This record gives sequence, C-alpha cells and structure tokens, in this order.
Amino acid sequence: MTGTESPDSAVPDTAVPDRKKVRAFARQLFGMYTQGALTYMVDLGHRLGLFTAAAQGPATSPELAARVGLDERYVREWLGAMVTAEIMTYDGSAYTLPPEHAAALTGGGSKNMGPMAAMVTLLGRNLDGVEEAFRSGGGVPYEKFAPHFTGVMDELNRRPLDELLIDAWLPLVPDLTERLTAGVRVADVGCGTGHALALLGAAFPASTFVGYDLSSDAVERARAESDALENVTFEVADASSLKPERPFDVVFAIDAVHDQADPAAVLRGVHDALAPGGSFIMIDMAASSDLAENVGNPFAPWIYSISTLHCMTVSLASGGAGLGAAWGESLARQMLGEAGFGDVVAHPAPGQGLNLIYVTRRP
Ligand SMILES: C[S@@+](CC[C@H](N)C(=O)[O-])C[C@H]1O[C@@H](n2cnc3c(N)ncnc32)[C@H](O)[C@@H]1O
Repeated sequence: MTGTESPDSAVPDTAVPDRKKVRAFARQLFGMYTQGALTYMVDLGHRLGLFTAAAQGPATSPELAARVGLDERYVREWLGAMVTAEIMTYDGSAYTLPPEHAAALTGGGSKNMGPMAAMVTLLGRNLDGVEEAFRSGGGVPYEKFAPHFTGVMDELNRRPLDELLIDAWLPLVPDLTERLTAGVRVADVGCGTGHALALLGAAFPASTFVGYDLSSDAVERARAESDALENVTFEVADASSLKPERPFDVVFAIDAVHDQADPAAVLRGVHDALAPGGSFIMIDMAASSDLAENVGNPFAPWIYSISTLHCMTVSLASGGAGLGAAWGESLARQMLGEAGFGDVVAHPAPGQGLNLIYVTRRP
C-alpha cells in the first residue's frame, strides 16, 4: 500500500463480504440441503405407497400406517417431515394430503412427479465414484448404475410416453402417423425397457419395430413387455455400430444420444441405417449449448447436475466424448449436420418442459 491509498481502496470489494448477503446465501444453502433430504422422503413416500394411501383422505398416523401395512413409528416421523415441509397438513390428530399435492404425487399419469425423486436417490449411489473421477479422470460406468437406473428411467418415461408419444409427439413429424399406419421399418436406439416400441407396435400393426440397447437387463424387460407383439423385437446391441439387414424408414432416439460414448458415431450410424428420405426423431434435453444462455433456465441446474452424476460420467467411463446432457440445441444441430442429416426442426416437447424433439431426415 502507498501512503496515498485509503485502506478501503486497497481492499478489493470481494474481500469484504456483505454480511446480509452471506446470511441470505447460507439460508439458501441450508434450504437446498433440506430439499435434498426431503427428496429422499418423497422417494420413500412414493415407493411405499404412502402418498396414494394419504390421498384416500385424512388419517391419523396409526390409520395411515395401517392403510399401507407399515411400521407406525416410521410413518409418524415421515409425516413430521411432510407436515413441516408443507407437503401435508396436520390438525393435531389427522394428517391430510391436499388434493393439489395429491395431483402431483399420485396416479398413473405423467403429472405424478413422485417417480422423479428416485433419480436423486440413484445418483447419490455413485457419488464416491464420481468424486474419484473428478480427481483421476474417467468416470462411473453404466453397469454401476444398473439395474436401478433401468427401473428409474422406465418409471420416469413410461407415463409421459403413454400420454404423449402417439397423440402429441408423432403428429410433429409430417406424415409419420400415415407412414406408420401403412407399414414401415422402425428402430429405437438406446431403447431402455422398450415401452415406446410396445406402444407403437400395438398401435401400428402393419409396421415392424426393432429396439437396440447395450443393457441386457433393459432388453430383457423390453422383451417381456412386448412378448405378445409379433412386430416388435429387441437386441442387445451397440448403437454406434448398427448394421441392419435392410434400411429403416424411421429411427427414434429417446433421451439416448447425449450420454453415448461416441455420439457422433451413433448419429452417423443412424443416418447410414436409414433409407434415403427416412426420418430421425431425437428427443433430448432442452438446453442451450452456451452456458450463459442457460442462466435463468429453471431446468438447467437439474440438467447439469444429472449430467455430472450420470450422463457425462458414463460416457467418460468408456473413454467417450463426455458430451453431457446440456450439449444444447446448436451443438445438436451441428452434429446432426455433420452426420449427414438435412434440415432439422426442433420442437419444444409437448407436455415435457425438459425436452426438445429434433426432427430431421436422411436426404
Ligand atoms: C437415458 S436412457 C433412455 C432409455 C429410453 N430410451 C427411455 O427413454 O427410457 C439411455 C439408454 O441408452 C442405452 N445406451 C447407452 N449407450 C448405448 C449404446 N452405445 N448402444 C445402445 N444403447 C446404449 C443405455 O443402456 C440406456 O438404456
């Protein structure tokens, strides 16, 4: 410091934290940790059927425990968390799940957000492995997430597929419903438990459907679900080296490109596996490729977090590109172009704020 400088001007602003802001941020952090712990409570409530039981009407804790056949002491402690988190209400004896909250936590439709909590639980399972990857590189392989990941993805995507795939998503692709009705060859790469093809196979009996996935536990479940459908088959296969006997007319990739080890090879492979004029429908995360543009996107912290803890790490685990779930629209368009696809239209996915539906064709 020279004699002309005041003590204030010598100290950068950043070194004098505003105490009010520190306290506010500390509250924000504690709120975050609380929400994190509550996510496990929601996961338990969903797994154990507690929300569905509570939705039947007000109940004391012994009554609620009896409805689901659970240990009352655990149910009462769980109810404490539910009440103080304002998920349920308590009048001094009975606990109530308000109908608006029941609408978001129960039922077989896509509005039920209960299944999503399991994703947080699942990601926590491999935190030690991800920590190690931060230090040494590489990642946590897909096998470390199996078979739980298969089940969680199935529960997450099954309900939206039931409600949206045929009625809201197919009509975004010109003539697709007509082509499927007439009879075409369709593939789903990274098909997981194959629910999309089970729905399509039943709705379009003149078309044939093949699902590919690396994960044998997912393919086993897919085969079981579509057992009665003669036009639907599944193969354990690497989507980066597709060699179909005959070209496909339509290929789907639902939430299955950004976590690939070699996404460029998968996109090229899909292009080459399509007949000229064939359609590629890629459903992926709705994000910008530019971090600055993702600031303020309420879904972005979720996308970057699940990417670090799953999508990116599984790719890096096999020496892959580590594209990440927030690869974003402009990089997706660039990579589709490099793979040889023609014009790309990106639709916000009806009913799914987290996704974009990219529609393109092999020229
Ligand atoms: C996020 S999951 C999506 C599954 C399914 N499409 C859905 O929407 O529920 C991604 C899937 O891609 C599969 N996968 C990853 N890399 C693959 C590859 N190279 N070839 C085939 N499948 C792959 C995984 O096993 C996983 O089932």
